[in-house]
Amino acid sequence: MAPSVLIAPSILSADLSRLNEEIKSIESSADWLQIDVMDGHFVPNTAFPFTQVQTIQTKLPLDIHLMVENPSEAAREFLSLHPKNITFHAEAVQKTDDRRALLQAIRKGGATAGIAINPPTPLSDIADVLGEVDLLLVMSVHPGFGGQSFIPSVLEKVTEARKRYPTLMIQMDGGVDDATAPLCIRAGANNLVAGSFIFRAADRAQAIASLRSSS
Ligand code: DX5
Repeated sequence: MAPSVLIAPSILSADLSRLNEEIKSIESSADWLQIDVMDGHFVPNTAFPFTQVQTIQTKLPLDIHLMVENPSEAAREFLSLHPKNITFHAEAVQKTDDRRALLQAIRKGGATAGIAINPPTPLSDIADVLGEVDLLLVMSVHPGFGGQSFIPSVLEKVTEARKRYPTLMIQMDGGVDDATAPLCIRAGANNLVAGSFIFRAADRAQAIASLRSSS
């Protein structure tokens, strides 16, 4: 039985001047809330510093996506907010021991631990820890900005990972909308991040339902 699909709206595309109102508008239909933390070094953009995330009021489980050069320091900080999940990028932590240590530290801090790979990064790059993560994030855009186009070639990594790890939570992020969501789910993703598709929609609950119903 295929695992049901979780929808995690990304607030990167929300109106940041009314952030808590924006979050309220999707609270009853979303499963998680994804927060894109960007340091301006790992990606050419800055977003959601800790001090801003501290002001967020929501009952949704927080999914912290660390697009930062130093994810272990960031993870320590964000764990104090008791998030559901923290994901770091394999490209920011090259050594297996360091990856293992960070996965353990995140879990010890009470969150599930995810690893993300960018479009150019092969699945083989994370073969050392893929069997130990709680979540695999396969990016379908080059990280840093919302509203980019979906890169379909990454789907083969999802299919491969799903074949090897039938119960792993596999998340996709970047250019996910009602046209690409079915491709993600068919490939084996069971957790979808969407920013612009949801926050640009006139009816956000319906937009979220359309992503879920494409399963
Ligand atoms: C990295 C960010 C974005 C965002 C989703 O760039 O992680 O992928 O969450 O943006 P959309 O759904 O607008 O592509």
